[in-house]
Amino acid sequence: MKSIHHVSPELLRGKRVLLRTDFNVPLSKSGAIMEPARIEGAMKTIAYLKNCGARIILMSHIGREPEETLAPIASYLKSRISITFVDSWDKEIIQKTVDAMNECDVVLLQNLRAQKEEEENNPAFSAFLASLGELYVNDAFSVSHREHASVVGIPQHLKSYYGCQFKSEFENISRVFDPVHPFVVLMGGAKFETKIPVIESILPKADTIFVGGALANDILKANGYEVGQSKVNDMDAGYAKKIFDNEKVIVVEDVKVKSFLFAKNKSLAEVTSQDKIIDGGSETADLLSKKISEAKLIVWNGNFGTFEQGNSFLSKRVIDALSRSDAYTIAGGGDTVAEIKKLKKEKCFDFISLSGGAMLEFIAKGTLPGIEALEF
Ligand code: 3PG
Repeated sequence: MKSIHHVSPELLRGKRVLLRTDFNVPLSKSGAIMEPARIEGAMKTIAYLKNCGARIILMSHIGREPEETLAPIASYLKSRISITFVDSWDKEIIQKTVDAMNECDVVLLQNLRAQKEEEENNPAFSAFLASLGELYVNDAFSVSHREHASVVGIPQHLKSYYGCQFKSEFENISRVFDPVHPFVVLMGGAKFETKIPVIESILPKADTIFVGGALANDILKANGYEVGQSKVNDMDAGYAKKIFDNEKVIVVEDVKVKSFLFAKNKSLAEVTSQDKIIDGGSETADLLSKKISEAKLIVWNGNFGTFEQGNSFLSKRVIDALSRSDAYTIAGGGDTVAEIKKLKKEKCFDFISLSGGAMLEFIAKGTLPGIEALEF
C-alpha cells in the first residue's frame, strides 16, 4: 500500500486522478451541511494534487438512497475552490467533462450510489470509472469497509494509492494493534453486532475495557440486574456473562436513572423495574478517572448516556480525566464525535476519527477490503 506522495509531483502534472473521498456528511432537511469535517478532511489531498497540477475527479456517495444528491457538497466546495459538478450519470456527459479538463481542474461526479452498480461492485461500472482516470487515490478510509466499485473495483484497473485523510485514519487507529500500556478502551452506544467483534479482538491487547451505554444494559440484564425500562438489545446471555466475568472488563458500577425532571444516581441494586438508565453514575466516573490517569493509550467509541437529551455526565467526567492525562487519546464513531463537538471538547483528543463502521471493522479484523484492494 503506497501513499500518493510516492508518486513524484512532476509525474502527477496533467494526470487525471480519480480521488475517492467520503462526502457522506449529515444534511439538514433543507440540505444545509451540518458537519463539514469529512469535506475539510479531504481538502489536504485535493490541495496537494492541485499544487502538483493534476486533473482531479472527485467521487463520493451520500446517504443510502439513490436519489440523494451531492449538490450541497458541490456548493460547499465551490466556496473553497473552483469545481465542476456533473449532476448526471450520463456517460457521454461525464466523458466530455473529463476530456475538457485542464491541469489543476477539479470535477465532482454525482452520488456514486445513484448507480446500483456501485454497491454491487459491478466490473463494467468499475472499468468505466477507471477509464476516466490514469491513477486512483483512496482518501475515504471511512468507506473502506465497503466492497463497492469505487473502493475495491477501480484499483484492479489502475495504479492505486492512499491520500492524506486515509493515512491519518490508518496510522492512528493502527496504534491499537501494538499498543503502549496501559491501554484502556472505552466502549458505549448500542449496535451490539458491530461492538462485540471489537471487544473480542481487542481483549488480548487491552489492559482495561470499560463497557457503558446501552451496551452495558444487556450485560447487566444477562447477569441478573434490573434494568427497568432501559434500552436493551437481545444479546446472547451466555456471551454477556462471559464478558462480565473477564477480569479486564469493567461494566458500569452505578448509573443515573430518569427521575421526573432530574437524573438520580443509583447503585445497580437500587434500579427498579420503573427506572430508565440514562447515563453512568459517579462511582463509575471515579473509577474510570483513575484508570484514565494511569493509561498511555485510550480509545473511545460509543456514547455512555443519552447525550441528545443532555445526559453527558459520564462523558464529561471522562473528558475531564482525558484532558489531565498524558495518554494518546483517540475517539471515533459518529455519535461519540457529535457529543464531543456538542461539548466543545475536540481539543482534549489527539485524534478524532472520521470513520464510524470502518474504524470498528478495522479494529475487529485488522484490515479492510479497501486496504486489501490497495495492496493489489
Ligand atoms: C459512513 O458514514 O460511515 C461512511 O460514509 C459509509 O457509509 P455507509 O455506512 O452508508 O456505507
